[in-house]
Amino acid sequence: MSHVRSRFDKPADELVIKYTTSLPFDSRLYREDIRGSVAHARMLAKQSIIESADALDIIKGLVEIELEITDGNFAFKPEMEDIHMAVEARLKEKIGEAGGRLHTARSRNDQVATDLRMYMKDVIAETDASLKELQTALVELAEKHIDVALPGYTHLQPAQPVLLAHHYLAYFEMFQRDRERLSDCLKRTDVLPLGSGALAGVAYDTDREFVARELGFAAISRNSLDAVSDRDFVVEYLAAAALAMMHLSRLAEETIIWSGAEFGFIEIDDAYATGSSIMPQKKNPDVAELGRGKTGRVYGHLMGLLTTLKGLPLAYNRDLQEDKEGLFDAVDTLLLSLKVFAGMMRTIKVRPEKMLRSVDKSYLLATDLADYLVKKGESFRNAHGVVGRLVSHCAKEGKTFPELSIEEYREFSPLFGSDVFEITVTSSIDSKNNPGGTARRRVAEALATAKSSLA
Ligand code: ARG
Repeated sequence: MSHVRSRFDKPADELVIKYTTSLPFDSRLYREDIRGSVAHARMLAKQSIIESADALDIIKGLVEIELEITDGNFAFKPEMEDIHMAVEARLKEKIGEAGGRLHTARSRNDQVATDLRMYMKDVIAETDASLKELQTALVELAEKHIDVALPGYTHLQPAQPVLLAHHYLAYFEMFQRDRERLSDCLKRTDVLPLGSGALAGVAYDTDREFVARELGFAAISRNSLDAVSDRDFVVEYLAAAALAMMHLSRLAEETIIWSGAEFGFIEIDDAYATGSSIMPQKKNPDVAELGRGKTGRVYGHLMGLLTTLKGLPLAYNRDLQEDKEGLFDAVDTLLLSLKVFAGMMRTIKVRPEKMLRSVDKSYLLATDLADYLVKKGESFRNAHGVVGRLVSHCAKEGKTFPELSIEEYREFSPLFGSDVFEITVTSSIDSKNNPGGTARRRVAEALATAKSSLA
């Protein structure tokens, strides 16, 4: 019978053990749990709450247990409830009586909150590194094709020409904000709950600042009830993860569309494409589709945890154990997605000629023609009307703008002169020269800024 059941007359029902155990998933926190316990034992000895000799035995035992788990020599028994109990029970097996002194001035409630915060700090750093890797791939792609133009779209209808580099740098900005959100949520995660006890604090002369320093926490929590019972830092991570997946899914969607035969703007590398079981010619963008699809899963975990936390009275409630599985799945999903997408984007083959052809046949310079008339004195609304009629004429005649004669132009407005032929894709792009625009000079600057922020 588990050592916390001394007040009960019988062991827990078998289904209850199965229902309540978190060991199958929280064993993932064993390193954090042991690091936290080592720091706690050091503090207990320093404060003369336990004997130094006992603390040394405890620490030695914990270090050995960590090795047992890492090497796969640790017996995880479901009746142990969770990783905290499993480690403590093994410690008692190994070092006897002294093992029972580790849990002085501590509760599993502040222990699990501490473990989770330590874990989240590492996960935030890892997520940041993976986002950065994807940003690096996008910057490389932008730099490699710095002169390539393609249609920019609104409503997925060709709108105005933009540089491909400008397009991919838009994603760079999205992932930059995701990184900023993570570094902001790190500030609130980097707070030590240990020392809060079960809920009210502890009746020993502990040194919480010492434990914080040992474990590398920036601060200690200010309220014991809050510290053991809130998981808002997990929600913040999940929200940042959900947004990162949303950005990834937009990139995924475009990669799917662009690599299709109708667009043909890009080709996905063979290593990142899949085949069909029936159609031998197929090269499918499954990686991008899965990135798009897995986004729903991460959104789900965010909603799941928000719902779990809603209405929980102070302080700890076992509902909180439900914080972990969704989080772990979100972390695994996001990290793997980011890594795979970095590889996929790094190896994308760009087809500039396809992009340019699409620019030419889509009347993308219509706004530039209207702007031209405005510069000659026409009002923008009238200019808009003139060019609209011009486009309709071209569509009926099956012509593009460069194929019109100056006489044809003049039928629509006497303001057209031969300098209308100076309007090109490049002149259009370079005219968008205000900050944030797609002019070559601006994009070169943006690329330099992006590169130096990654360095
Ligand atoms: N496995 C528990 C969790 O993940 C640890 C804390 C258990 N505390 C308790 N009072 N039952 O939340």
